[in-house]
Amino acid sequence: DDPEKLAAFQARIDAGEKIEPKDWMPEGYRKTLIRQIGQHAHSEIVGQLPEGNWITRAPTLERKAILLAKVQDEAGHGLYLYCAAETLGVSRDEITEMLLDGRMKYSSIFNYPTLNWADIGAVGWLVDGAAIMNQVPLQRTSFGPYSRAMIRICKEESFHQRQGYDAIRKMAEGTPEQKKMAQDALNRLWYPSLMMFGPSDKDSVHSAQSMAWKIKMNTNDELRQKFVDQTVPQAEYLGLTIPDPDLKWNEERGHYDYTDPDWSEFFEVIKGNGPCNVDRLAARNKAWDDGAWVRDGLLAHAKKKATRQHA
Ligand code: ACO
Repeated sequence: DDPEKLAAFQARIDAGEKIEPKDWMPEGYRKTLIRQIGQHAHSEIVGQLPEGNWITRAPTLERKAILLAKVQDEAGHGLYLYCAAETLGVSRDEITEMLLDGRMKYSSIFNYPTLNWADIGAVGWLVDGAAIMNQVPLQRTSFGPYSRAMIRICKEESFHQRQGYDAIRKMAEGTPEQKKMAQDALNRLWYPSLMMFGPSDKDSVHSAQSMAWKIKMNTNDELRQKFVDQTVPQAEYLGLTIPDPDLKWNEERGHYDYTDPDWSEFFEVIKGNGPCNVDRLAARNKAWDDGAWVRDGLLAHAKKKATRQHA
């Protein structure tokens, strides 16, 4: 890239200007955004699977209606984000195929199973809670279409987090068996939720450049710490115990000290070796194959219409 153009671009970023699709941008900026927005979009779509799994088994009609709406919202989030990625010159089909054949990632968290109803509460509380913590600063990200998609997504995401907290609260305040289920869900989902923020800063290959470009607004560890600080009092309110014996308030730092996740597990999961990676990709591939006739039909219809208009 031309150094003068690069400097002018960086000056716009530093001045807090939004970059729009038709503006000049360094190739690395474009690529990083396609990677991050694409991975984010895929996470919304794959993230429907662990929760969709419980729609037919929700304990009440009300919970079922709420879960149904929430899972539909996630599909909407995926669509806003695919649209944002498309403005960078990559088609939705292209990045979908990259997800389906494993060239693109999606969030590690969705490779863990949801074993029972308490997990659905814990997913809303912890997974959506972690997602919001990461996404609120992304509303200020430098790329216009991504930033605008995030504003809309964050509004819905905070409803998702609250419905999850309400569901887990009901379990935590329920019978001893229900409380045990809530604790068990927290035990299993705590560390995978911490992993959502990405590797520790020393292992985060993209953070420095992405922050200079204001694609990312915070480091992975900064957001993970904020999430821990926010979530510990919520767990206390529920009467549940975070599964980290070394977790304690550090007066000097003004933050909780906590134990990092097992990073070898994280790297295995993102390599494709988590508990549900194979199932998740198989489900997405099946949905894509099953939908081929719809896509073919739509294309044939559009072609026919176009020829008629020409005639
Ligand atoms: N799951 C899967 N892969 C991850 C995760 C994760 N939780 N965290 C990091 N990675 C991958 C990165 O994609 C990168 O791999 P790549 O080079 O093959 O793309 C590698 O691990 C190294 O990590 P970083 O250098 O720290 O990567 P990055 O700067 O992209 O930071 C982060 C990762 C924080 C997830 C960032 O991409 C981000 O903020 N994304 C937007 C939010 C998002 O995707 N949320 C999805 C879950 S929320 C939801 O869907 C409800």
